[in-house]
Amino acid sequence: MTKVAFIGAGRIGQTIIYSTLLSGAIDKAIVFDIVPDLPQRFKDELMHALASAKINTKILATNSIDEVKDADIVLISAGKPRQANQNRTDVFNDNAKIMIEFAKTLPRNNPKALFIIVTNPVDQMASVFMKYSNRFTISSGAQVENMRLRSFIAERLGVPVDVVDGFAGGEHGEGLSIFWDTVTINNVPFDEAAKGKLTRDEVTNYVKDVAAQVIAVLGGTSWGPATSMRDIIVAVAANENRVMSIAAPIKYKDETLHVSRPTIVGNKIGPSLEKSLSEEDLRLLNAAVDKMYNEYKELTKNLK
Ligand SMILES: NC(=O)c1ccc[n+]([C@@H]2O[C@H](COP(=O)([O-])OP(=O)(O)OC[C@H]3O[C@@H](n4cnc5c(N)ncnc54)[C@H](O)[C@@H]3O)[C@@H](O)[C@H]2O)c1
Repeated sequence: MTKVAFIGAGRIGQTIIYSTLLSGAIDKAIVFDIVPDLPQRFKDELMHALASAKINTKILATNSIDEVKDADIVLISAGKPRQANQNRTDVFNDNAKIMIEFAKTLPRNNPKALFIIVTNPVDQMASVFMKYSNRFTISSGAQVENMRLRSFIAERLGVPVDVVDGFAGGEHGEGLSIFWDTVTINNVPFDEAAKGKLTRDEVTNYVKDVAAQVIAVLGGTSWGPATSMRDIIVAVAANENRVMSIAAPIKYKDETLHVSRPTIVGNKIGPSLEKSLSEEDLRLLNAAVDKMYNEYKELTKNLK
């Protein structure tokens, strides 16, 4: 029995909810948004889709935060999206205020919940939420970038996507790292399999830039990341123990930070598999942690 509360039913929220409910992996869903009637009318749509799929998930649609209770998982995607000409950190202040508000209200009625943050800048938002709620929180992190990485390589090399493996990590977005020693095609290392056909730079540019290109034309990303978010929820609900690039909290100097790395995701989060990364990949990860710390300090300087 898994009950999931979805906080925010905008572009990405709706797509996550739709994908998750259609997976049939959860029994109860709460859909919350501040826009009057939005959750209720979206619930109508979902019920029709679930009827087609013969899935019996129960949905509570609400504009009242007090009705968000007893969830096993709370996924937060409420907040401002960035525009095509903005970085994810440009929406930091506005979205941090929303995280702080939720950190004060959601934990009380959801004492057992795992909190998953999607709102951008997602890693920093997870750290803000955790700091103000004192609750275990993960960032959906770079799991979507794993899929951007694998799909691009498969397309360019003309191979099925399921023979491409590999992990990204560090910060979701512009500060991303690709852990190249994990990237294989049919178990052959990337450099050998892609020689003369595709370069590391081409892959890196695609993985880092594609979101901005999608936003410029479609107004926002939704289907790609939403499917990764669904995968995270299903991995927890079904205790899949699947390796995913999510960001679980780490202590670094005087802060709790969220920096993605391959991590086992089931009804327990972790351990992370950073010890099995190569020396070079680990160097990239450690550099990302240090960079994230400095940026987070700067961004949170004036946060109350
Ligand atoms: N982590 C990722 O991979 C990823 C991918 C896509 C989008 N995002 C982020 O998700 C967030 C939402 O993006 P979107 O495209 O869905 O935006 P959107 O504007 O379509 O939807 C945001 C929703 O949040 C709701 N909302 C805002 N403040 C609220 C509050 N205080 N309480 C309840 N609901 C509130 C709005 O009413 C709206 O329905 C953005 O920060 C975006 O950058 C993250």
